[in-house]
Amino acid sequence: MSANFDAIKRRYNIIGFDPALERAIDIAVQVAATDLAVLVVGESGVGKENFPKIIHDNSSRKQGKYIAVNCGAIPEGTIDSELFGHEKGAFTGAVEARKGYFEVADGGTIFLDEVADLPLATQVRLLRVLENGEFIRVGSSKVLQTNVRVVAATNVNIADRIAKGKFREDLYYRLSSVIIHLPALRERREDIYPLFVKFASDFSAKYHCPMLTLTDDAIEELKNYRWPGNIRQLKNVTEQISILEKNRTIDAAALKPYLVSPTGTNLPALVRTETDSNENFQREILFKFIAELQREISELKNVVNHLVNGTMPEPHNVPLKEYPLEDNELDYQITRATVPDKNMPEPHFEEPIIIEDSDLSLGTLNKAAIIKALERHNNNRKLAAEELKISERTLYRKIKEYKLNDK
Ligand SMILES: Nc1ncnc2c1ncn2[C@@H]1O[C@H](COP(=O)(O)OP(=O)(O)OP(=O)(O)O)[C@@H](O)[C@H]1O
Ligand SMILES: [Mg+2]
Repeated sequence: MSANFDAIKRRYNIIGFDPALERAIDIAVQVAATDLAVLVVGESGVGKENFPKIIHDNSSRKQGKYIAVNCGAIPEGTIDSELFGHEKGAFTGAVEARKGYFEVADGGTIFLDEVADLPLATQVRLLRVLENGEFIRVGSSKVLQTNVRVVAATNVNIADRIAKGKFREDLYYRLSSVIIHLPALRERREDIYPLFVKFASDFSAKYHCPMLTLTDDAIEELKNYRWPGNIRQLKNVTEQISILEKNRTIDAAALKPYLVSPTGTNLPALVRTETDSNENFQREILFKFIAELQREISELKNVVNHLVNGTMPEPHNVPLKEYPLEDNELDYQITRATVPDKNMPEPHFEEPIIIEDSDLSLGTLNKAAIIKALERHNNNRKLAAEELKISERTLYRKIKEYKLNDK
């Protein structure tokens, strides 16, 4: 059976007509019916995270649990217990026995994201559960059974890890019964402009601002750029332009400063008239920008408080441009009113508001700010991430990227 591409693309918000992308969707749907382990590979930001979900939703396990685990974001000391559970007293702090993801997901699917980051000891446990469904909780000797389908993803070259002795070759073969390769954005240039239009439309709705349009030379510029961060970068760039450019028609000259290399400027659009070396200037503007976001969030809280109390806020308290929404909600918010009504789902504010990877923070955080935050919080990553207004996961990535682990 061949995939109904339109239905799947609509359901998962996938934009693109590239044959390699459609082939990847086709493979995902075809292998869904089997229990084969699938490895999704491709550069960072190419859209790997949709695929395990497509596989799960199209499989006979779809009524079962789907658990996504980011192996790169779980500290080495707790990953075995997270995946396989632990018994009471297994380690300091294990005050109660706890099931791990492999036990909870019995009958369902586990997505092991950034699988190449798994420690070797965990790889041994994973190999066992993949081979015969057996696993042991940390601190126990009792062998338990589970029936879980595993889909894994990685953006690193696993062969390289195997050569360096950091990844078990036998595990690699177990995980990769089927490999789904997602093309880099630069290998599917015809999809670049449709993706831009989709994101521009989403952000125009999100920020209640007129939609961006590109001149022909800007479209050419966009298509010829290398996109090292792939679709995630295109999305971030579109968001930055949506927020920062007053003139909504973007020509090549206006676009160019946003198209930097990962080692280039931190926040290109804000420093267009400055030189790359003007780091302080960039930082100052970035902090101003974050302060502005925080102000808007507190005003939004104000609106919600008024709603909860059944009164409308004072007019000067409603200058909000957006309501925080999940990524996948973007499509539904185009018709949303500026002033909230009672039928609108209520935003939640109990959790700290975190600027995720897909937001402006990626690539804008500099090393010094991270080091300072970690120092201030005695290396407590949770607190440092909160201060930096990023997720812990992003902080882990940055720590790895800047090799701060060794310090
Ligand atoms: N075809 C697509 N159409 C629209 N949006 C997409 C598409 N592919 C990816 N995206 C968006 O791009 C962003 C990055 O995708 P995703 O998180 O799946 O990347 P990834 O391949 O898992 O990267 P990494 O290896 O860094 O984790 C997400 O916001 C996702 O929604
Ligand atoms: Mg990912």
